[in-house]
Amino acid sequence: MFNKIALTAALSATMILVGCNNSGTSAANNPQLEERSKLMKDWRQANEGMKAMMENPDTFDAATFKERADFIADSNAAMWTHFEGDAAKGGDAKDEVWTDAEGFRAKTEEFTASINALSAAAATATTAADVEAQYGEMASNCGSCHKAYKK
Ligand code: HEC
Repeated sequence: MFNKIALTAALSATMILVGCNNSGTSAANNPQLEERSKLMKDWRQANEGMKAMMENPDTFDAATFKERADFIADSNAAMWTHFEGDAAKGGDAKDEVWTDAEGFRAKTEEFTASINALSAAAATATTAADVEAQYGEMASNCGSCHKAYKK
């Protein structure tokens, strides 16, 4: 489900892309690579913010944590469209994303279930302990997909 914030983020990402396509990198010639690289970096930033709160439970702020989880949940469906089709091949994605498309889809589905569960848990959480299990599951899915499908 997309909320207004996610839509705004998607629109501004598109505008940034349009403004940056003369940067001369190979990704700049492939909008799919550029879009997923930018979004993965935004996910890293959101994830690092959540991780810091998990490591220092005293700093847990329920609203900020939820905002970060929701950012990933709300842009999740869009992320996987940037790996679709032969034109999306390349970058740091292994060929297996396309040669083992079933396996890659299974990873995206596991991730989707875990980020949705984290987002749901974050909606009622008051302490880091309330989201610990769901956070751990979600974060391990980032890593397990990278191990199999990222160069
Ligand atoms: C289903 C697989 C999958 C999941 C889940 C996944 N990633 Fe990725 N990620 C990839 C692939 C493939 C690439 C390489 C894409 C490319 O550069 O072409 C990548 C690239 C990245 C990059 C490097 C971006 C760049 O261009 O420098 C970061 C950072 C990243 N992912 C963070 C995350 C985080 C954080 C999560 C979890 C919140 C996550 N990813 C979840 C598959 C996944």
